[in-house]
This record gives sequence, structure tokens and C-alpha cells, in this order.
Amino acid sequence: MRVPAFTPVLALPFLVAACTADDLPGEERGVPPVLTSEQAFDEFTYARPTEARVTHVALDLDLDFEGRRVEGTATLDVEAAEDATEIVLDSNGLIIGGISDGNGNALDYTIGEADGEKGEPITVTLGELTGPALQQVVVTYASGPDAEALQWLDPEQTAGGEYPYVFSQGQAILNRTWIPTQDSPGIRQTWEARITAPKPLTVVMSGISRGEPEDVGENRRAFEFAMENSVPPYLIALAAGNIDFAELGPRSGVWAEPEVLDAAAAELVDTEAMIDAAEDIYGPYRWGRYDMIVLPPSFPYGGMENPVMTFLTPTFIAGDRSNTGLVAHELAHSWSGNLVTYSSWRDGWLNEGVTSYFESRITEAVFGEKRAAQEYALSYDSLAEAVAENGADNPNTAMRTPEGISPFDTVGEAIYDKGTVFLRTMEAIIGRERFDEFMRGWFDRHAFQPATSEMFLAELRDQVVDGDEDLEQALMLDEWVYGTGLPENAVAPDPQAFAEVDNAAAAYGEDGSLPSAETWGGWTGAEQQRFLRELPETMTADQLAALDAQLGLSDTGNNEVLFLWLQAALRNQYQPAVPQAETFLADVGRNKFVAPLFQALWDTGSWGQPIARRIYRETRPGYHSMTRGNVDEIVGWEG
Ligand code: BES
Ligand code: ZN
Repeated sequence: MRVPAFTPVLALPFLVAACTADDLPGEERGVPPVLTSEQAFDEFTYARPTEARVTHVALDLDLDFEGRRVEGTATLDVEAAEDATEIVLDSNGLIIGGISDGNGNALDYTIGEADGEKGEPITVTLGELTGPALQQVVVTYASGPDAEALQWLDPEQTAGGEYPYVFSQGQAILNRTWIPTQDSPGIRQTWEARITAPKPLTVVMSGISRGEPEDVGENRRAFEFAMENSVPPYLIALAAGNIDFAELGPRSGVWAEPEVLDAAAAELVDTEAMIDAAEDIYGPYRWGRYDMIVLPPSFPYGGMENPVMTFLTPTFIAGDRSNTGLVAHELAHSWSGNLVTYSSWRDGWLNEGVTSYFESRITEAVFGEKRAAQEYALSYDSLAEAVAENGADNPNTAMRTPEGISPFDTVGEAIYDKGTVFLRTMEAIIGRERFDEFMRGWFDRHAFQPATSEMFLAELRDQVVDGDEDLEQALMLDEWVYGTGLPENAVAPDPQAFAEVDNAAAAYGEDGSLPSAETWGGWTGAEQQRFLRELPETMTADQLAALDAQLGLSDTGNNEVLFLWLQAALRNQYQPAVPQAETFLADVGRNKFVAPLFQALWDTGSWGQPIARRIYRETRPGYHSMTRGNVDEIVGWEG
């Protein structure tokens, strides 16, 4: 049986689950699948993909650094059902110049009312070629003034200080601020792009580069890219700046500003080994190249899994490769998330939880069991803490976000760490070999297709549980996916994972004795972080000074460690740390560091609030809109 490329009906999820691997078109590169289940419904798109859907996007855009916008055309290939008369696209603030068909004939369109979160629908009346025939819709447009997916950087915000820079961040629903398409993870699309930028800037994208850049006059060059595998549109990404490339292995490399390229390449030497390890576990890497770009420090995340071009914060560079779990994570998304993608934002665990587990398997294979056991202990403990803090019956601690609450408000640990613990628990009960076989099959069967929690559970029951009542009971599947809190069958971490550090932390708590500088220096990044997390909430200035003197915390090259030190210092109103915190907050825009540091200042009340306000006034313009949104809330920013 061939699944037609377009099926204007809603099939039941069970039909999908019952198909065998041979039935499904997952291996068919570039043939975008349709939404096949009611669970695939995405409330964050205006698109009605069972009537008319975009299958391919061709972008032809100029990067306008002065105007801080992109401008050009998007040519969309559309497949429409027999009786469809219009197609609905997502937009958020786009400035539309006109819409035509592939022959240049103008098409009627209306722009609906804007909703703060989703943006506004563009409804295009299709031309004569309705019906199953494919047709093209050409949108001439520019991004609006506050396009949230794009961050335009002044030269001062780059390492070189000489050239501007821009990067995009599509996840979750931001790409509609610069690409007029159907912006829903279940509506996969192939794409190509031609992007022009002023010399000497280089453009990279989350697609394979085609040919050499071409001179196009006015001191500009054009760069071409193509992604022949269908992807969820949030994974279309670009970056442009004064960047160079360093090869890491036969299929991997790194882009960065020349000032950071050597350090970046040195930090990333394990990349090829990670790809090999990942393939051993879950099958072939299906995207061709695996390159990365190390962005300027205002990038708001640790990493973003843009296909063939992972985006990374420069703050992961520690000089000793201690934070490269981040790379294992983004690489793992090449299977969980990019190859098989949730179709609803409510199924966050299918992307992030499965990825966190897969990350730990890659870590185990490349760096050994001890480091993996330590990272598992950290995950388990942050989950247990988050559950304790939020309450075990808090709906925000469910892996599948229940109706009535926003998937964007879910407790992060309930997606990432609960996912890890869930998969680890299944692995322990089912046995690694059998569980790996199931997961490998999951990726094969649904390659380049959307997936849902219901599909995952149905297939697991069909293929692994297979009517075994005892196994069904032991797994507690529904409780994990739909329930809140931490299910009782969760596999606990190895108590030995951090034995030495935990003893040292206990000793410090009892009589203030600190580990020697030598002991501290011999610890892994994870061990140092564990120790700092176990410091007492309240500490005196003398204690903090002694801690810093003995362990050299304010001189550490590891930003994860520096962050924990600054957080402890600010929480305790430790004045000597303020200048360094100020520098750090001015340089770094990574939300994970920035938001908690402002929170720590704010929570101290009259001591820290004026400091927070003073620093934020300076640093706010340099932050990404996402980071800004979070800190605005913490400090009650009103401009
Ligand atoms: N896909 C996420 C980043 C993301 C999540 C962007 C939600 C927008 C909305 C990425 O894979 C991720 O999880 N990054 C983590 C890294 C980590 C868990 C090792 C980050 O940025 O901290
Ligand atoms: Zn992730």
C-alpha cells in the first residue's frame, strides 16, 4: 500500500500504528506526509492542512541589516483537496506586498485579526488550479519591525566587534515572523533558499549549501541552500556574520567568528565519535553533514537542533570539553525531534524527553558510564526537586501537556528530565536490547513524519507489551505520559555516582571544611556543579570569600560553574561579586543564566532590586526577545 502524498481525511491513530514498516513512506525523502490523526491537531496554527497544505518553500530573500528586516519572496508549493478554494498561512507581523500564483497572476487574500501569541492568518484564494494538482503561491513580503525569530546584532555584540550579525530562532512558533508558511510541526515541508547579504558576511542555513556564493552587485553575495528532507517549519534557520569554517571530521565541522573558531573546534573534537555512537544506537544519520555554528553570546539558548547546522551558545566552551553534553543533545535531535517530530506542542516529551535520554546514551558510549550515571543523577534530582516545588499533582508536571494549560508553560524538568527517567525506566524493565530495537524501529517507521504520544504508546503495547499483563502493570505507561509527579517505578540514580562530592558537601555543611584546590580541580564539571548546588541556601560574606579563595570560582573558565557561583553570591547579597555579575550579564544573553541571576538579585529585596534595575537598563537592549520577555516579568519592567 502506498500512502498518498495528500489525504484529505482524518485517519485514526490506530490505523497508523497498525501499519507495518513497509507500508509507510518514511524513507521516501522529500515526500511530505499529511496529518493522519486527530491527535495531530495543532492549536497554534491557523492552517487547515486537510484542505490545502504547503509541501515546499522556496525563499528568495535579502538580509537588510540597516532596516533590520528580511525582504523578498516565498514561493510555496501547495497541494489542495478536490473542493478546496483557499489556503491559510501563518503570519506574525509580516508586511505583505502581494500574492500571486506561479504564473504571476495576482491572487486575492485577506489578513485576519492578530492574536498576541499565534499571529494572524493569511487566507489566500486559490486560482483555477484547485483540486489535487499542485500549484504555486508566491508571497512578496518583508518581516515586520519586531520579528521575534530574528535577532540583529550590532558589531559590539560580536567577538570581532567589526561586523553586524543576525540569526534566527524558529522554535516554537516564531518562524511565522519571517516566513509566510504553515507553521506547524506536523506540516512538514522541504525547502530551498537563496539569501543575499553584504560582503564580507557569510550566510549559513539549516540546509545543505549549494555551490559557491555568487556576486550579485552592490557589494553583496548570494548564498543558496536546499533541504530535500521534509522538516517541520520551525527548523528552517539562518545565521549570517563574519564567520569561518573549521573541519572536524569527514561529515562534521564548525562555523564561528575567527576570534572563537580555534577554541570552538578544540571543544568539539568528539563530534564525529558522537555521531558514530548515535548511529550504533538508533541507526543511520540521515541528514548528510552535521555542522554546527557557535553564535555570539546573546543567543538565548544553549543549543538549537537546526538540521545539518546545530546552533550553539559560545558559553559552552570551557576549554576542557566538560559541557559537550549539549552537543550530544542537539545531535540526538537528528533522530528524536527532527526525523520523528511531535505534531502537537503538547507532546514536548517526544522531542525533548526522548532526546535527553538519547543524549545520555551517547554520553555513555563516548565518555563512559560514570559520566552518564552522574548526568542521570542530576536529571533525576532536578526532576524530584521540580515535582516537590510544584506539587506532585500539578498539571504542569505531566509529560503530555493536558488541555487547558499552555504547553509553553510546562515545567521544563517534566519534559526533559521526566522523559529521561521514563525511558531509563522502560529500558530497565524491558531490557536494553529489546528496548533499543523498539526505539530503532520507531525512528525507522516514522522517519520524516509527525508522531504523537498515542502512536508511541500504541506501538509499544503492540510490539513490546504484546498482551503481557504483568509487563503492562510494571511499566505504568499511562501514568508516565499523562500523569503528574514522579511515578513510583522510576529507576533511582546510582547513589555512588557522586559519592565523593556528596561527602565533601556534607563535610562543608557540618564544619565548614572545604575540599582542597587540588581535589576541586580534579573534579569533572558535573561534580563541581553538584557541589555548588549543595551549598547551603544562606551563607555569610566570610564564607563566600573563603569559598572563592579556595576554589578559584570567580576565575573558572566554565560558565556553568561561574553561573552557580554568581547565583549563590547574589542570593546572599555578596557585594564583591556584583561587578563580575554585571559583566557576565552584559556579555551573555543565554536565558538559562540570565533569568535566574536577575531572579536571585530580585529576591533579596531592597539590596538587589536597585542593582537588578540598574544592570537591566544597560543589558536589556542586547538580549534576545525571549530572554527579555522573561526578565521583564521578573523585574516588572515597564520601560
Ligand atoms: N530545542 C531545544 C531548544 C528550545 C526549546 C528552543 C524550546 C525553543 C523552545 C534544544 O534542543 C534544547 O533543549 N536546548 C537546551 C540544551 C540542553 C538541554 C542540553 C538548552 O538550550 O539549554
Ligand atoms: Zn532539546
